[in-house]
Amino acid sequence: MKNSVNHPVKKSGEKSFPATSMQDNKPFTEADYSLQTLLGGMSVEKFLAEHWHKKPLLVRQALPNFGDWLDRDSLSELACQDNSEGRLVQFKRGQCQLEFGPFEAEALAALPKKNWSLLVSGVNHLMPEGDWLLHRFDFIPAARLDDLMVSFAPPGGGVGPHFDSYDVFLIQGQGRRRWEISAQDDLTVVEGAPLRILREFRVDETWELEPGDMLYLPPQLAHNGVALTDCMTWSIGFRAPKAEEIVNQFLTYLQDKLELPGMYSDPTLKRQKHVAEIPSAMLDWAEKTIRAAARWDKTDITDFLGRYLSEPKSHVYFDPPTRPKSVAAFAKAIQKQGVALDARSQMLFRGNAFFINGERLEASPGLTSMLCKLADKRYLEPGDCIHEQSSEMITLLHLWYQAGYLFPAG
Ligand code: SIN
Ligand code: CO
Repeated sequence: MKNSVNHPVKKSGEKSFPATSMQDNKPFTEADYSLQTLLGGMSVEKFLAEHWHKKPLLVRQALPNFGDWLDRDSLSELACQDNSEGRLVQFKRGQCQLEFGPFEAEALAALPKKNWSLLVSGVNHLMPEGDWLLHRFDFIPAARLDDLMVSFAPPGGGVGPHFDSYDVFLIQGQGRRRWEISAQDDLTVVEGAPLRILREFRVDETWELEPGDMLYLPPQLAHNGVALTDCMTWSIGFRAPKAEEIVNQFLTYLQDKLELPGMYSDPTLKRQKHVAEIPSAMLDWAEKTIRAAARWDKTDITDFLGRYLSEPKSHVYFDPPTRPKSVAAFAKAIQKQGVALDARSQMLFRGNAFFINGERLEASPGLTSMLCKLADKRYLEPGDCIHEQSSEMITLLHLWYQAGYLFPAG
């Protein structure tokens, strides 16, 4: 496919992008895009060493001809779908107001000419182009990837000066936007506002982005994006787990895993001086029992992290095929067409432990390299599937197909 980034906007009346399932869409080919252009000629190594998680990078024409995949109307359509995560930010008399979708089409059409922004998260699950765009950033580990958010704002619109805990690549779609950044240390936010808006914002640097330009921002850097014309911004966000979140989640994981038979017993009980004093024997027993139960090693941490990071977000549901192919028909289809992960599937691995959508699979040695390829590329070519004709592989892929995790690439 030639220059797929320059995909035309659908004509009015044409069906919108597939809303829930990617099964009918072929993955885009590598030839459509150049990583060199995306990073403005900088090597990935240099970008990681000098910019990632450290300082901004502006790339003019990172995605030449980009910008026509969504416009105000088609983004509004997505924001009205039940399966989308939309937010509407409006500034009225200097006050920030926030509403959550799904929205009514009429309400979105009747918005004022200025000073609001409609943001839709998880667009990579809603249109195949979004999924394609997200995976152009596969030089960052998938364990860090969050999602693609797309926003529309009329002139003056934005979400106000703020900082994010995310690393983010902001790609300009249609229109122009002015980005202001500040290296300020004061990150105090306005009290009581529905969004974390900075109380003070001291602009250090300003850039105007045109369609196809990209700005990378590290976390905690104060920024403000203001639409100069009707404007669309595509944000690819990378999460970093918070210490509190990871420990809380791990404790819950441990709790679910624990099997603790037995109970305290005191057949040799002696009369105490103080009836209200906690017995020493009970304290010793509790300490010994808790220490024994709360033991874990790297294997437990790997298992926890793989499941946790690959767990779909709470609003994500898969669409299993309504009339699934038999194992034999499925094998034939993937040997002819290859197989692709659904855009909603998250697949990670460590060693021979594979994690898909919160589930774990211990791969036998014969399957490891093919599963690594599926996790990395999210796609197996027909040749791969023919080569890997083992019934174990086919049975596994068929199970995931029945769950809606992957499909014969059509
Ligand atoms: C946007 O308005 O599209 C991006 C918001 C942000 O700065 O994170
Ligand atoms: Co931001």
